[in-house]
Amino acid sequence: MPSRLEPEVMPRRDFLSLAGLWSAGLAILGSVAGMARLPKPRVLPEASGRFKVGPPSEFPSGTVRVIPEHNVRIVVTEKGIAAMSLVCTHLGCIVAEAPDGFHCPCHGSRFDPDGKVVGGPAPRALPWFPISRAADGALVVDNSSEIPAGTFFEV
Ligand code: FES
Repeated sequence: MPSRLEPEVMPRRDFLSLAGLWSAGLAILGSVAGMARLPKPRVLPEASGRFKVGPPSEFPSGTVRVIPEHNVRIVVTEKGIAAMSLVCTHLGCIVAEAPDGFHCPCHGSRFDPDGKVVGGPAPRALPWFPISRAADGALVVDNSSEIPAGTFFEV
């Protein structure tokens, strides 16, 4: 008679059958879990580069405003409103405004007030972004597309 001290020995054939059943069960469970995840996208869509900066009334002529969370500088002149990136085109540091334009603190690139490279390793000018109006009238900057430097939009 089996006891805790002398358990009944499971025949090898029964053990292998049980192991096969457990393996098959785990494989089916894994497959079902995998199929259940199929409808969900594995890659999230890229976030839009469009963001609101406020109503036009907040941007009278002469305004210069940096949107720090997007590293964009907005300028309003008599020509209109424009948005330029403050992200250095070398390795992505944030440029600082200087009397002659913008200086990158990381490797010394220098840009003129329009973002054109005037010195340093930056391979290209600071990009300018299009500005449009949202349905509610707010100004919207799209930093996912570039426009030629010096392009201003009517407010
Ligand atoms: S990141 Fe601006 S010069 Fe290198």
